[in-house]
Amino acid sequence: MPLSFQPSPNIARLKESATLAVAAKARALKAQGIPVIDLGAGEPDFDTPAFIRRAAAAAVEAGATRYTNTEGILPLREAIAADANRIEGQSVPVTPAEVVVSNGSKQSLYNACVCCFGPGDEVLIPTPAWTSYFEMVDLARAVAVPVVGDPANSLKVTAAMLAAAATPRTRGLMLNSPSNPTGAVYSREELASILTLAADRGWWVIADEIYRRIAYEGGALSALEIAPTRDNLIVINGVAKAYAMTGWRIGWSIAPPAVSKAMTAFQGHTTSNAAAVSQHAALAALVEREQADAAVSHMVQSFRQRRDAVLAALAPFPSVRHVHPQGAFYLYVNVEGFRGAHDPGAAFAAAVLDEHQVAIVPGNAFGTPGWIRASYATTESIAVEGLTRVARCLTA
Ligand SMILES: Cc1ncc(COP(=O)(O)O)c(C=O)c1O
Repeated sequence: MPLSFQPSPNIARLKESATLAVAAKARALKAQGIPVIDLGAGEPDFDTPAFIRRAAAAAVEAGATRYTNTEGILPLREAIAADANRIEGQSVPVTPAEVVVSNGSKQSLYNACVCCFGPGDEVLIPTPAWTSYFEMVDLARAVAVPVVGDPANSLKVTAAMLAAAATPRTRGLMLNSPSNPTGAVYSREELASILTLAADRGWWVIADEIYRRIAYEGGALSALEIAPTRDNLIVINGVAKAYAMTGWRIGWSIAPPAVSKAMTAFQGHTTSNAAAVSQHAALAALVEREQADAAVSHMVQSFRQRRDAVLAALAPFPSVRHVHPQGAFYLYVNVEGFRGAHDPGAAFAAAVLDEHQVAIVPGNAFGTPGWIRASYATTESIAVEGLTRVARCLTA
């Protein structure tokens, strides 16, 4: 008799990515020849810079085709430490022993959750938050506790809000600045009070800084330069967003050596090292400073131009409320009350796709059903046309 699949308790609660339904519908419309404006993307629309592609090709020819250390090649870990040490304000420099390279920052985030949290532990998640945080915490058998931010302050949370949501079982929190999905950036004071609270309470802080270099108004700060101690801090970053390298799958963590050791052991039994060739590509992105900085500046400049264009396109629709994006490449728009729907974000996503051929992501994916996320990681004219249709649909 064929074995019928019953999901194990490990994944019984795992939700499919909420973006899939919209993406599948958008694909179906495209297949029928209907032109869809896709504002669902979570990745830069640029190619990986040529100097990085060339470095990868050269590395393959030079033999970067075998297993490496699970934690990554030493030159890359040294380059990551050196890159972190370019951030001012740290009293103790980051060392390669604190760095573990992984198959994308997503893996580093998951490794950190598995290593620091366990059954019954509660993890505070400033919400809206990137969809995978909730699932990763759950897969670690811990309990994700959403703490919804203040709409009057770009949906950010404060230390007081986190303290109010804490219980004796709280073990840590996830931080993400600039934020996916809102583009909000935490100020020095906001970060300092949250990091001080976490240090006082002995909570782990997992700081996801994957969008840190994509910031428009004075730059986004790293927890590394503000935290009163690094003893409870795990900083996650990678090359995907800043260097347009999503497909190369390289991320990393900077964590106390004991945590790094545990994360390496866990990764050693799951995926081992990240692809050798990708590690060499990431190395080029980090050490070829002049070329890398020029490429990043060019991309950030383009994102900023599109952000400004999109905000200008929304100006004639003053009733359309949104978070002012200071980083990343997303616009988070309030759709509360849309056609009286129970899940306004999902209803709006369906309507704007059916009636205006625009694909966006409903806010329930990020823990706030009254909102939707539109990405402007596309050409300026497409982003402007798409957001204009969003505004029209919302105000019709
Ligand atoms: C907030 C956030 N963290 C992490 C990731 C994962 O990035 P990576 O490609 O490095 O795994 C994403 C990707 O969308 C993201 O938005």
